[in-house]
Amino acid sequence: MVCLGRICPDMLINGPIDANPYSIRLNSDGRTDAVAAISAQPPESFSASLLRSLLLRSLLQSDTFDESCESGEMENENETNTEPVEAEVNPWEVSGKIDYDKLIDKFGCQRLDQSLIDRVHRLTSRPPHVFLRRGVFFAHRDLNEILDAYERGDKFYLYTGRGPSSEALHLGHLVPFMFTKYLQDAFKVPLVIQLTDDEKCMWKNLSVEESQRLARENAKDIIACGFDITRTFIFSDFDYVGGAFYKNMVKVSKCVTYNKVVGIFGFTGEDHIGKVSFPPVQAVPSFPSSFPHLFSGKENLRCLIPCAIDQDPYFRMTRDVAPRIGYHKPALIESSFFPALQGDTGKMSASDPNSAIYVTDTPKEIKDKINKYAFTGGQDTKEKQRLYGANLEVDIPVKYLSFFLDDDDELEYIKQEYGSGRMLTFDVKKRLIDLLTELVERHKRARATVTEEMVDAFMAARPLPSMFS
Ligand code: TRP
Repeated sequence: MVCLGRICPDMLINGPIDANPYSIRLNSDGRTDAVAAISAQPPESFSASLLRSLLLRSLLQSDTFDESCESGEMENENETNTEPVEAEVNPWEVSGKIDYDKLIDKFGCQRLDQSLIDRVHRLTSRPPHVFLRRGVFFAHRDLNEILDAYERGDKFYLYTGRGPSSEALHLGHLVPFMFTKYLQDAFKVPLVIQLTDDEKCMWKNLSVEESQRLARENAKDIIACGFDITRTFIFSDFDYVGGAFYKNMVKVSKCVTYNKVVGIFGFTGEDHIGKVSFPPVQAVPSFPSSFPHLFSGKENLRCLIPCAIDQDPYFRMTRDVAPRIGYHKPALIESSFFPALQGDTGKMSASDPNSAIYVTDTPKEIKDKINKYAFTGGQDTKEKQRLYGANLEVDIPVKYLSFFLDDDDELEYIKQEYGSGRMLTFDVKKRLIDLLTELVERHKRARATVTEEMVDAFMAARPLPSMFS
């Protein structure tokens, strides 16, 4: 094989070699294997898509692109596994009935067990957050290492984010931020929050300007969760990417082959290259050197990422690359999804307003949605309910209460009474309506106090001198 020519997208349809920036290997007769394979077909069988798929398959199978990094072990070999699974969980789609144990196996992360929760309790001297006690955050990667280091007196920083794809947030969107706020307060550590306006612009067909506007609006809801401005930096990719952050993106990009992103994210030849190029943007906030105004001289700081488990593919890639470019792997603490009102088959959908409670809903909307749409495990009639009790496994009001009702004794009491039939669905829904109305009203009040100046202040690239105290 000699490296003779270049391949361009046009060639996928129009045939041989044209000028483009990527060199590919050619056979001694000057053709690529793919072109040779295509030419071997009878002319009448040519179609643009056949040509395309043949050429792409050949490109995927051969190792044609230069790789300046040694290929590291992926932490889990399964991502190219095409074995059918009922549920779909990836950064763009969460659907089906999710078996979280299976997901832990498939992704290769670890279960967050009671001993770790006890350890967090001990180290922070405060009761573990309700999301830890109830198993909402149920999986992790290397959380023990972060805690070991913390115990030795080494701090870490937190990194989380949001893709600003909609104006109004629903309760599921708040889960990672409520939890991150608890972690920030409990461990007294700095936090960076990435608003991936670029990601949503590319995936959701939003204009650049609209994505930026949504990022700023979402920042207000995030700030309303109570983050400490002396320890928190919020940034939009469109505004912040550049400098040291971009240098890290390039380092990461050089270590990830096209084959690998296809394996991890399932991109096809039809996906635009913006999608293929995005993962390094989400990867590099895991490295302190991406934020020189915060962490200059602290390049060894470890990073802990609270996120929903659908973001795991990004960080599998990040963890694979990190040691090859001389950085620590980020640790992760991962949550399950807040279920839709209609039942436990994925996360709430932004496209169906009746599947979710929004932080902008009025008390009447909350009441009506819960009464009308919340899937219940209770019986159809009072008599049957008294006789058989409710199936708590599928009951959405009980699920929602177990996310947001902090009082363990009260939750236990409700489960006992409702499960045995002494309590009716109506009463459980009533308790939930009161709880969520209070939560949403509190959020609205907090958001109303967030000014444009506060958003600017949180988003200013600035040092945070007392971020660890
Ligand atoms: N991709 C995420 C989303 O669509 C946003 C995001 C960026 C994120 N960085 C993150 C989420 C880190 C969790 C942790 O919402």
